[in-house]
Amino acid sequence: MNKTEVISTLEKIITPSQIRNINIFGNEIVIDLNIDNPSLHAKKKLEKSIISSFKKNHKIIVNFNVIKKNIDYKDNKNKLEGIDNVIAISSGKGGVGKSTITSNLAISLSKMGFRVGILDSDIYGPSIPTMFDVESLRPTSVKIDNRSMIKPIESYGIKILSIGFFTEPNQAVIWRGPMASKALNQMIFETNWGEIDFLLVDLPPGTGDIHLSIVQSIPLNGAIVVSTPQKVALSDAKRGISMFNQKNIDVPVLGLIENMAYFVPEDMPEKKYFIFGKDGVKNLADDCDVPFLGLVPLYKSIREASDFGHPASLQDKSVISKSFEKIAKNVVSSVLERNSHLPPTKIVKITTMAGCTAIKKK
Ligand SMILES: Nc1ncnc2c1ncn2[C@@H]1O[C@H](COP(=O)(O)OP(=O)(O)O)[C@@H](O)[C@H]1O
Ligand SMILES: [Mg+2]
Repeated sequence: MNKTEVISTLEKIITPSQIRNINIFGNEIVIDLNIDNPSLHAKKKLEKSIISSFKKNHKIIVNFNVIKKNIDYKDNKNKLEGIDNVIAISSGKGGVGKSTITSNLAISLSKMGFRVGILDSDIYGPSIPTMFDVESLRPTSVKIDNRSMIKPIESYGIKILSIGFFTEPNQAVIWRGPMASKALNQMIFETNWGEIDFLLVDLPPGTGDIHLSIVQSIPLNGAIVVSTPQKVALSDAKRGISMFNQKNIDVPVLGLIENMAYFVPEDMPEKKYFIFGKDGVKNLADDCDVPFLGLVPLYKSIREASDFGHPASLQDKSVISKSFEKIAKNVVSSVLERNSHLPPTKIVKITTMAGCTAIKKK
């Protein structure tokens, strides 16, 4: 083979700019490549497909040179000190259990040994303070390097900030997008979060302007979409997925969670009533080619625990804790998978939202 033939074979797999050098010594071809994904898995996969694209009688040696993607990450605003992963928990429809999932997922992640924070940005109904029994508390401030920073409230080992801490209880807050994102910017960038592995952001329901402002102001690693399996909730969830997939938003969807998958009566725990339909969210995940992270049944005790300010998953070894633990493990895998394939997140810069685009694989 000559160099041109080697290049045209390679170009079926990689872009020309990735080819650094080619040396041909008879049947031995040494290929030097640039790649931006340093994971061993990615290198092996690429090496395998390159080797198999040449005839068997050639000895192919592939050398990788990992290059860092040119990411606009110097901007201080984009950098979240100490926070490794920011995950938005969203839903198209309200009342499907976004906050319930956020709080129980936070507890399960924390039980796995991760340091977890929650940023409750639901301007329509911030319910995280109630779910963590810290409604009456208000965050204080600390001086860090002569700068005044907000100190999050801590409950059950989870660091919490909620838009609810900055408004009067029961006050109907009419926030506009820019106001909400300004408040959120403070809650995220002017807060002494310390070291956090996962910051879960409980978003307001919907895909409107306010929602977009919020998504724009936070550097998200990805989003989780929560839905019940019923038709109206699913179509809203689908809109949510489309929003994150918009080219100029481009927040990877880490997966879907099916809440209230079925009802389990307390006196007949072996029974399952599929009140909202069966497998709706799982099927949506398959259709949209996004991971299905798991399901949570409808239990009276989940609702009671939330209202009581003591999330159900705090109880060890219960059926409920187990469903959340399973979800937490899947979330971690999905985040790791995302982080190994995509560059660090940055704040998206968009101003308007076009019509919903087709749902594509991330
Ligand atoms: N799996 C569940 N089982 C029982 N009650 C639930 C479950 N998920 C949510 N709830 C209850 O449903 C209501 C709405 O849930 P919430 O998490 O506040 O929804 P959202 O944040 O999406 O508006 C709450 O009263 C909550 O306790
Ligand atoms: Mg909520």
